[in-house]
Amino acid sequence: MKYEFDEIIDRVNDPYSFSFKWQHPEYAFKRQGVELTRDDIICLETADMDFRVAPEIIEDLQRLLDHGIFGYSEIPQTYFKAVCGWYERRQGWSFSPEDISYMPGTHSAISEIVKLYTKKGDGVIILTPCYSYHSDVDGNGRRYVKVELANDGKDIFTVDYDALEKACAEKDNTMLIMCHPHNPTGKVFDHDELCRIADICRRNGVLIVSDEVHSDILRRGQSFEPMMKACGSEGLIACTAVNKTFNLAGLAMTNVIICDPKLKMDEMNMYDMPTPFGIQAVISAYTKGDAWVDALNEYIDENIRVCIDLVHERLPKAVVAMPQGGYSINIDFSGYGLRGDEVAKKIYGDAGVVLNSGLFFDDIRGKQVHRACLSSPRSMCLEAINRIADQFEGCE
Ligand SMILES: Cc1ncc(COP(=O)(O)O)c(C=O)c1O
Repeated sequence: MKYEFDEIIDRVNDPYSFSFKWQHPEYAFKRQGVELTRDDIICLETADMDFRVAPEIIEDLQRLLDHGIFGYSEIPQTYFKAVCGWYERRQGWSFSPEDISYMPGTHSAISEIVKLYTKKGDGVIILTPCYSYHSDVDGNGRRYVKVELANDGKDIFTVDYDALEKACAEKDNTMLIMCHPHNPTGKVFDHDELCRIADICRRNGVLIVSDEVHSDILRRGQSFEPMMKACGSEGLIACTAVNKTFNLAGLAMTNVIICDPKLKMDEMNMYDMPTPFGIQAVISAYTKGDAWVDALNEYIDENIRVCIDLVHERLPKAVVAMPQGGYSINIDFSGYGLRGDEVAKKIYGDAGVVLNSGLFFDDIRGKQVHRACLSSPRSMCLEAINRIADQFEGCE
């Protein structure tokens, strides 16, 4: 089947859209301290996609709608088998249906894990710059311990093992949250990196939570190894989801995988009643979604290629690196020698494009680096970059 990713779907005015990022850009502008004056905003911000969900999933959800009753629902065995089948088939990672606990979204899952497996005041280590886990960590009275990834200056990131070892050796630091693939750097940790990180954590009694929600979105030629497959299940909890891969974030269906018998806890099953829509979407995605995800990855490869080319051509002083995973790129505007607020005004206020500034990811370069999610129709991504480039013209 040929899938359509070029279609522009109206997420601003359609009464069934309910899109937070498209209908409320004022929050992003407020965060940037920039006035919102245009009404033709392009949002390449929050990591959801502007593509219609796979037709295979929509058809099944339509059948569910036709059934017409949406009462309290139990997760059937077909759901667990579908989850196991996907990871076995796509990532060569085997686990059993009994190792899976459903949670209503990844933040709910991580927050619950933080509350269950650490105590108030404990330190939770994050490899920064990173997608924010502040609400799960600080929000639960734990300390956010940042271990910075080393950056070669061109946004190729590596692990600073000495700094990680030092942080893990502190006795009150009891958990590491891995973001693998890493958001926003687009790094996919390789086998040796994963095992070295796991070894440091295990020697120091630090529990690992591997957030792998971006693991199906990979750039051409890259392969992903689940951390549990690479280094075993001891002291490790993995979070997986259909949310990013299939553009189903609004259904909040996350699966937590725990194979280490010492970590199994009944409390994890307290949220075992998702909506029938969420249950069906997971079953359909994981049993019928392979071809759609493959086509999606090809489309995103091309989006990223043409957008990086356009940045090189029209924003010659900006730095941008090819990600290994995920659908976002980070554009570093520091070469233009402007203040952070001036950069933000050009992008958000003048060009009318909403991105995520580095501040959101605890990035020391803050407002000089902005993340663009290229998970939108190509024409929209290119228009956004062109609009931004127009504003930097003459800033030579
Ligand atoms: C790495 C990562 N983890 C978790 C989330 C949030 O996932 P959920 O919507 O399932 O809570 C995001 C959203 O962007 C993310 O990038």
